[in-house]
Formats: sequence, C-alpha cells, structure tokens
Amino acid sequence: MAELVTLTIDNQTVSVPAGTLIVDAAKKIGVDIPVFCYHPKMEPVGMCRMCLVEIGRPVRDRASGELVKNEDGSVKVSFGPKLETACTTPISAGMVVKSNTKNAVDGHEAVLEFLLTSHPLDCPVCDKGGECSLQNQTMTHGPGESRFIFSEKSHLAKVVSLGELIVLDRERCIQCARCVRFQHDIADDPVINFFHRGRSLEIRTFSDPGFDSIFSGNTTDICPVGALTTTDFRFGARPWEMEKVASICTHCPVGCNLTMNIRREVTSGGKSVIKRVMPRQNEQVNEIWICDKGRLGYHFVESDRRLKTPLIRKDGNLVPASWEEAFQRVEDHLRAESARLVTLVGGRLANEDLYNFSQLTQLKLGKPVLYSQMAGGDLTAQIGLGAGSNFADMGKGTVILVIASDLHQEAPIWWLRVKQAVKRGATLIVAGARPSRLEKYATHVVRYNYGEEASTLAVFMKDADVNDSLREAAQAFSSAENGVVIYGSDGLGLVGSEHLAKACSRLLLDYGFYGKKNNGLLAVWDKANSQGAWDMGFRPDRNLKGTIREADVLMVAGADPAGDEPVLAEALKETDFVVVFELFMTETAQLADVVFPVLAQPEREGSFTSADRRVQRFNTVVLNQDG
Ligand code: SF4
Ligand code: SF4
Ligand code: FES
Repeated sequence: MAELVTLTIDNQTVSVPAGTLIVDAAKKIGVDIPVFCYHPKMEPVGMCRMCLVEIGRPVRDRASGELVKNEDGSVKVSFGPKLETACTTPISAGMVVKSNTKNAVDGHEAVLEFLLTSHPLDCPVCDKGGECSLQNQTMTHGPGESRFIFSEKSHLAKVVSLGELIVLDRERCIQCARCVRFQHDIADDPVINFFHRGRSLEIRTFSDPGFDSIFSGNTTDICPVGALTTTDFRFGARPWEMEKVASICTHCPVGCNLTMNIRREVTSGGKSVIKRVMPRQNEQVNEIWICDKGRLGYHFVESDRRLKTPLIRKDGNLVPASWEEAFQRVEDHLRAESARLVTLVGGRLANEDLYNFSQLTQLKLGKPVLYSQMAGGDLTAQIGLGAGSNFADMGKGTVILVIASDLHQEAPIWWLRVKQAVKRGATLIVAGARPSRLEKYATHVVRYNYGEEASTLAVFMKDADVNDSLREAAQAFSSAENGVVIYGSDGLGLVGSEHLAKACSRLLLDYGFYGKKNNGLLAVWDKANSQGAWDMGFRPDRNLKGTIREADVLMVAGADPAGDEPVLAEALKETDFVVVFELFMTETAQLADVVFPVLAQPEREGSFTSADRRVQRFNTVVLNQDG
C-alpha cells in the first residue's frame, strides 16, 4: 500500500496515499472543488481551469534541506504567485490548499464567466438541464452576471450528426475533451477528435460510418454539458420528470448494472415507459460503462409485434384463447401418465423461470435441456472465477488467456476491462483461429486452425513439450501468480466446446489457478443467463433433433430452434404436442400447439447469474402495456 501523506485543505487535515491528486484528496473530506474536464476514470489534462486553487508548500532551507519554521514554531508555507489546477497536481507532505479564498473564488467565477460567453441560454430545452455540471457550477460558483455583450455571442451549429446514434450541439460544447479522451484512452476507438482551434474548435468524427464505436453512448454520460446527446433520448424527457429503477443488462453474460429511467406518457395511455437506459456504477462488474447494445437494446419491450394473448391450435390454425383454455389444454397432455416431457430453455430466461421449469420437469421425470451449443457450465460452477474477483485488481502477476472468443463483440465490457488489466501489467495471451481486436493488447498471440482449440492449450501444461514459437507464451503462463482462462465458442460445436472447456479446466488445475480471488474459468456464454440455466440443471443435448422428435410434450421457452435450424423445425413438426413461451411469434411458435405470451425482463422482477456467477437481481421497471 502506498505511503500516506498528510496535507491541509481548506483548514482540514487529511491523509491520503502518495500520488493522490488534490481534487481527490479534497473529496475525502467533503470539499468539492469544481471540475469540468477532470474525470476520475481518465488521466487529468488540466484543460478547463475550473479547479483553480491556491497551493502553499512548506519552505525548505536550500543548504540544509531542513523545513524552515515561523517564529511561533510552525512550518513556514510559501504560496505560489498564481492559482494552480487541483486536478493535475498531486498532493505532497505539508501542502496547504485553499479552494475558498477570494483569489480562488475569483478564478472559478472568471472561468465560468468565460465559458458562458460562448454558451447558449438553452437550459430550458436542453436534455442535460437538471443534471448539467455547467448549470450546477454556475449556480454554486458563478459570478451571477456577465460583462459580455449578448449580441456578440457566436452562434454555432446546433444539430451536428456525429453518427447514427450521437448528435453534437456545437454551441454547448465547453471543449473539455472528455468525449475525445474516452474514445482514445478507454474505448480505444479514436473516431472523434478536436478540429480547428479557439472559438472555431469543434468535435468531428473521422470514421465512416460516423462515430463508429460500440461504446459511443458513454460519451453522452460523461459530457458535462448537453453538447452530446443520443438520438434515442434527445428531447425525450427532462431528467427530473423521470423515475430511476435499478436493473441489469440481459444482452450478454457480463451482466452490466443499469438504471432505467421511466416516465408516464400520454401516448401510452398514462402508463410508464422506458425513456433511457444508463450505466449504474458497479466497480466489480461494469464500473460506470456500458456498450451501446445494453443502452439501446430495450425497444423490443414496446414493440406492437409482441404476443398479447395465449394461442391454441384449432383446425390447424393458431387462434386466440383464454388463459384457462390454454392451460387446460397443456394440463390435459401433461396429465397423461406416460407423457415424455422435454423442456427446452434458452439462456435468456430468468433464474426463477428456470427453477419452475426444472421443478415441473422433475415432477414428470422429464428431460431438462438447455438450447445452447456451448459446454462447461458444470466446470465453471466448480473452478469458475473465485469469489471477490475483480478485473480492476488484475495486473502484474496475472496471466489472462482468452481462447475462441472475440470479447469485443461477445462481451464488450470484459474487452475493456481485460485491456485495462494489460495496462496495469497483466500478461494477455489471445488464442484464436482468426484475428480479433483483443490481439492488439496481447503479450502473445496464438493462432490455430479450427478444431485444434483443445490441443493448442495442451502446450501450456506444466510438462508439455513446447516448440520455440510458443515457449514464451507457455513460460508467461507458468510464471504467473494468478491465472484466468476465458473461453468462447467460436467455430466450435457442442462436442468441440466440451473438449475446450475440459482443456481449459485441466490447465487451471495444473497450475492451481482456481478456488481463489482473481483466478479461475470464465465462459463467454452465448446468452446472458446460460450459467443460471446450468446451475438449475439444464444441459445442452448432443442429439437435440432426436430428443425433440421423441418428446410427447415439448415445452420451449426463450428459444427458437425452428428459426435457427431447418432440421430442428422438421423435428418439431414430428413432436406430438409443442408448447411455446415467447415474446414474439417466432418460427418455433408458429409450429406450436399452444403459445403463451411472456413478460419482457423490464416488466417483471427476477435474477440472472452472470458468467462470473454473480446472481444479480432486477426489478419491475414498467408494467406490461397490455396488462
Ligand atoms: S462534446 Fe462534451 S465531452 Fe466533448 S469536449 Fe464538448 S463538452 Fe466536453
Ligand atoms: S457489455 Fe454485455 S452486459 Fe454490458 S451493456 Fe453490453 S451487452 Fe449489456
Ligand atoms: S477540472 Fe481541472 S483543469 Fe479542468
């Protein structure tokens, strides 16, 4: 742990680790130094000058190096002639910081007055109004009036489309570069940048299509003003009109924490609808970021193509029926003594649904099947990432091996976090049959042919005979203190996936990389709650076609086998009685004898188990529009 250093800020004494910035030290004792460009997740740049403070440092005798004392015995402190930025200056022992003297306050007022000379009076119509740093700082630290002549204000373009998802209002930009720095330093998608200088400076996109980044929405969260907005939420609602409900993302196995903002809408008959989705801070899971899929992939909830009533097959056609009628029909088939029940579930069902299906299947001595081509959930349950693990704690001494997965596409936030672990000194080995974006950060890249996944891993085993090209990668693995293996399913069928999951497990067992923090196995599941399904006893089936065909009663929930594979559609046609639980009229639903509409995840409560086996609860965000 870093040595603690003691200093004084606004007459309060605080001890913080060496290297801490003044602005962060101040927060510890409740002193809020105003900032715009500073962001705790990014390197400071000192661009906006909003955080100006007076800084005094203890005086040392040049000859002896001893501290110089005042007559009263206290240490003599010398203040610099100018204000300094608290966001770029690290603390030092005996430092005295003043953020509320006349000089400092004049500095804050001057910066705000200057920023407002080129800022529109948009607050009443601005999406950020109510949660805007510029608005808040102006109220708290602003001069209250401006010497600037309003008619001389420069007017700039107000609707600049940076891409399909993000719109820039040039007049509102205060040139803090948070968005540019995020895209360069965190997302590593340097697709936007500053262009021109001074009053002409603007944010431009340099990619085609514009702002081509799957993390672009995060810039609208960290933009301290209303300069960047999403096309999805722009002019959608005022922040204070919305209620916040905690939820989680169900689009991939990371399980990012979300806040869903809702508001009652006239167009929905006064019912609440989701207006926007934002990241909810969880330093263990997603820190403060989400990908654009998680942010924008909620509109299916309000789709008018959703199933609304149960359907039963009559004279060859699916027709609307009452819930009682539909249940009765299913019950009649299930009650038959000899009925062989198969429940085929997708990894997008909540744990509570999976539990109910598993109970029903057990009762009928049926077969619980997970609709997936990926294996290893039993292994992750035993040697999965240890309790208390956090990518943020991984760095020097940790080796991370990623195999058969393109994390950027399949688990974007893990991609960000693995990349950051490498920055902190972790060794990254990326093994794949084809290139992926993660390779750029890899210490070692291993290329294999499809089908060689499991045998490729064998070279990392302790007693393996390693050829020259892989020796360094193998040594990196063997010399690490902690090891994490992340495996995916690229190019693997179920059998190949079983072999790979076992090979990954053997490797971790060989080095003792399991059963402890920041060690273990992670599966990049194809669905967000596949781990939950494994934990509830559902397993993929190597002979799914045969299993479907032989079922007397087949219940399919959250899966569309007929839509995915014609051969499974044929098998479904041969099944005696098919019951489907779905949001939409899928191809599987079209073949069913009974179809039940289901609630979307934001319309109910429940839990998902993320791939790192974190059981995360979600709440009811909105009620189903059809009651
Ligand atoms: S658009 Fe927003 S985040 Fe980007 S530089 Fe301007 S004010 Fe800062
Ligand atoms: S990384 Fe995965 S869990 Fe996180 S927001 Fe994106 S899709 Fe959702
Ligand atoms: S917050 Fe310190 S210079 Fe911008």
